Amino acid sequence: MHSILNTMAHRGVSSQAPENTLSAFALAAEKGCQWIEIDVQLSSDGVPMVIHDDTVNRCTNGCGKVREMTLSQLKKLDAGLWFGKQYQDEPIPTLLETLDFVQQTNINLNIELKVYPQDDVALLCKMVDEVIKVSGIAPTQILFSSFHTQALARMQKVLPEVRRGQLWQKIPKDAISILRDLQAYSVHCDYRFLTPATAQQIKEFNYQLYCYTPNFPELVDDYWRWGVDMMITDVPQAYAVLENA
Ligand code: G3P
Ligand code: MG
Repeated sequence: MHSILNTMAHRGVSSQAPENTLSAFALAAEKGCQWIEIDVQLSSDGVPMVIHDDTVNRCTNGCGKVREMTLSQLKKLDAGLWFGKQYQDEPIPTLLETLDFVQQTNINLNIELKVYPQDDVALLCKMVDEVIKVSGIAPTQILFSSFHTQALARMQKVLPEVRRGQLWQKIPKDAISILRDLQAYSVHCDYRFLTPATAQQIKEFNYQLYCYTPNFPELVDDYWRWGVDMMITDVPQAYAVLENA
């Protein structure tokens, strides 16, 4: 039996509000989610911003590359109207604003470090570290994840007390040695590529196992038996109905 407590709101409750915005995060808190996942990359002037794609084209009224726009340029964009009129003028949040929000609401935050080709990984990690220190957030309230193992290794050096989760679409054969080196807390994989045998191996080594992004609970009915701990989903509310099943 599973509930919304076994979910993480992917980019906030991105099925009901524009992804990676404070509105989507507020919905997660209202619905009783305990976790939010966000995507973080740098503006051209080095500010960690919460946005998924390497361009602003899909989720704002602007166009261009995130890494080529300043904080001030990014803040002028409307990141809500594309999703619905009631979200007009919703801005792209900074990581710092998001950390303030989670501190107020006591929800946990999975910070996915997004690394696109040409991105400066060292600078991303340095700026994220600085913002986290400025925010004063408790290390236990956050979790880093990334497809980029080197980004996680850097965070291990600068902020070892913050947990690390390795993102893989498909968990590789040498997963355990990579996880050991990272002193990782969790593995986050694409649910479509997970097998019971791989899940069992990850759990034998006591890592948390999360799957992204199953948006219909029926798709992953069996996965709980395999040992999966949490689903990273756009529709955490859909998992609430299973509570009384
Ligand atoms: O963190 C899980 C998931 O967000 C990874 O893929 O592309 O949705 O950021 P993506
Ligand atoms: Mg993500």
